Amino acid sequence: MGSGQWSVVQRSPLGTEPPTSEYVPESGCLSIIVLGASGDLAKKKTFPALFHLYRQGFIQSHDVHIFGYARSKMSDHDLRDRIRGYLTPCKGCEETHEEDVNQFLQLIKYVAGAYDTEEGFRLLDKAISEYEVSKNSTDGSSRRLFYLALPPSVYPSVCKMIKSYCMNKSDLGGWTRIVVEKPFGRDLQSAEELSSQIGELFEEPQIYRIDHYLGKELVQNLMVLRFANRFFLPLWNRDNISNIQIVFREDFGTDGRGGYFDQYGIIRDIIQNHLLQVLCLVAMEKPVSLKPEHVRDEKVKVLQSVLPIEDSEVVLGQYQGYTEDPTVPDNSNTPTFATVILRIHNERWEGVPFIIKAGKALNSRKAEIRVQFKDVPGDIYKCKKQGRNEFVIRLQPSEAMYMKLTVKEPGLEMNTVQSELDLSYSQRYQQTIIPEAYERLILDTIRGDQQHFVRRDELKAAWEIFTPLLHKIDRGEMKSLPYKPGSRGPEEADKLAEKSGFVQTHGYIWIPPTL
Ligand code: NDP
Ligand code: BG6
Repeated sequence: MGSGQWSVVQRSPLGTEPPTSEYVPESGCLSIIVLGASGDLAKKKTFPALFHLYRQGFIQSHDVHIFGYARSKMSDHDLRDRIRGYLTPCKGCEETHEEDVNQFLQLIKYVAGAYDTEEGFRLLDKAISEYEVSKNSTDGSSRRLFYLALPPSVYPSVCKMIKSYCMNKSDLGGWTRIVVEKPFGRDLQSAEELSSQIGELFEEPQIYRIDHYLGKELVQNLMVLRFANRFFLPLWNRDNISNIQIVFREDFGTDGRGGYFDQYGIIRDIIQNHLLQVLCLVAMEKPVSLKPEHVRDEKVKVLQSVLPIEDSEVVLGQYQGYTEDPTVPDNSNTPTFATVILRIHNERWEGVPFIIKAGKALNSRKAEIRVQFKDVPGDIYKCKKQGRNEFVIRLQPSEAMYMKLTVKEPGLEMNTVQSELDLSYSQRYQQTIIPEAYERLILDTIRGDQQHFVRRDELKAAWEIFTPLLHKIDRGEMKSLPYKPGSRGPEEADKLAEKSGFVQTHGYIWIPPTL
C-alpha cells in the first residue's frame, strides 16, 4: 500500500481554504456504491480509478467499502473477476501489483437488483448498513457515495430509490452524494426535466455532474496558467488574439458503441460538454476566489454570452462506413464530425472566433487548445512569412504546452524562423505520475469539492447554446458531409476555419528534444 493518508485528501487545493463552507470532517466509514457495476464505464474507468486511489492511499481498507450494484445475476467473485483485468499497475508498483489487486478486490461486494424496484435497494441498504455497523460507526459518520454509471434514462428512478431506501441514517450523521455521468439529457428540455426530477430529491451540493475533461491535468492547469502569470494577463483578449481553436480528434470510429452514439452524435457526445467546458476555462474572467461557486459563476457568464450559432458557421460530417455498423440505421444523418464557430459577446472576446472541432475516425488522436495571435503590426522582419505566434496547450496525448514564436536563425545571416518555447510534461516532469481524470474527480466527490463539476445553471446554459442547432440536425435540415475514415474530415471544415481567420503555418518543423 502507498503511504498517503487522509490528511493528504483533506489538503485543500493550492493551499486555499477548504473548498466548501459546509466542509465535513472526513471520518467514519465511506461506502462507494457503483450502480451499473456490470457495465463498460464501471469496468474501464470507475473501478480502475478507485483502485489507483486505493493504491495511493487515498482510500483505505479500514474505512472504505465498495459496493457494485446492477441487474445481472453475479456473485462478488464474478464481479471481481470481471474487473481484475482492467486494474493496471501504477508506475513503480509493478512488483506488488498482484497483491494490491487482491487486497483491493476484497473491498468489493456485489448486490443484484433492478433499477426501479424497492427490493434491490433495500438489499443494498442492508449491505451498506451491515458494513457501517461492523465498523462501529455510530460515533462517526456514514458517508455514502453513489456513482451512477448508468444510462440517464434510469437516473430518476434510481435517485428515487436511493432517496427512499438508501440514504444514510440520520443518527450516524455524514452525507449522501450522487455522481451522475453525461449525457445529461438530449437537449435543453430533457436536461431541465432530468435536473428537476433529481433536484426534487437531492440538494445541489449533493449532486456531482461529472465531465471527465475537467479532471484532465492540463484542463486543471488552465486557470493557473491564465491567472497566475503576468505574461498572459495583458495578452488574453481581442486586441491580441485572432482566433482560438479547441480541437478533439480520435483516430477510431464508434468502435462497437454505434447504437449509443447514433442517438447522440458528436455535438452531444463531445462538444456540448467536454469542449464547451474547456472553452469556459479559456474564456472566463478571473473569479473572486477559488471557491467552487465563484469559479462556476464565471463559467456560467461565459456560456450566457455565447451568441446563437449561425448555420453558415457549422460544418457537419459523417465518416464513410459509419452506417455499416448493424446498430446504426442505414439512413442515419448523425454527425461523427463537426466544426462549429462560437462567438462570445463581451468586452474581452467580441470578434474572436472560437473554432470548436471534434471528430471520430480521423487521421490522428489529440485534444488541444490553439490560441492564435494576430499578425505583428509594422512587420519589419516579415514575420508573416514564418507564421503567427501560437500558444498551444495539448491536453492529450503527451501533455505539453508550447509557444510558437519567431526567432533569429542561429548563424551569420539575419534570417528569421519559427521555433518554440516548449514545456513537454514527459520531459519536464519525468518522475511525476499524471493521474487519470476519473481518479481526481472521484477524490473530489469524496472531499466534497464541486469546483470541477457542472452546476445545474451551467448545464442549462450549455444546452441553450446547442439545442437549436441539434434540433435542426435531428429534423434533417442540416446534412452531414461524407468523409474518408483516416482523413482530416470534410475539407469544408478547414475552409470554414480559414474563413473565420485561422492562418495555418506552413513549413514549421518541430525537432523533439532527446531525453
Ligand atoms: P500541427 O502541425 O499539428 O497543426 C497546426 C495547425 O494547423 C492546427 O490547427 C491544425 O489543425 C492545422 N492543420 C494541420 N493540417 C492542416 C490542413 N491540411 N489544413 C488546414 N489546417 C491544418 O501542429 P503544430 O504546428 O503545433 O506543431 C507541428 C508538430 O510539432 C505537431 O506534431 C506538434 O505536436 C509538434 N510539436 C510538439 C511539441 C511538444 O510535444 N512539446 C512542441 C511543438 C511542436 P488540426 O488540429 O485540426 O489538425
Ligand atoms: C467520452 C465520449 O465522453 O469521451 C467518447 O463519450 C470519447 O465518445 C471519450 O471517446 C474521449 O475521452 P478521452 O478522455 O479519451 O479523450
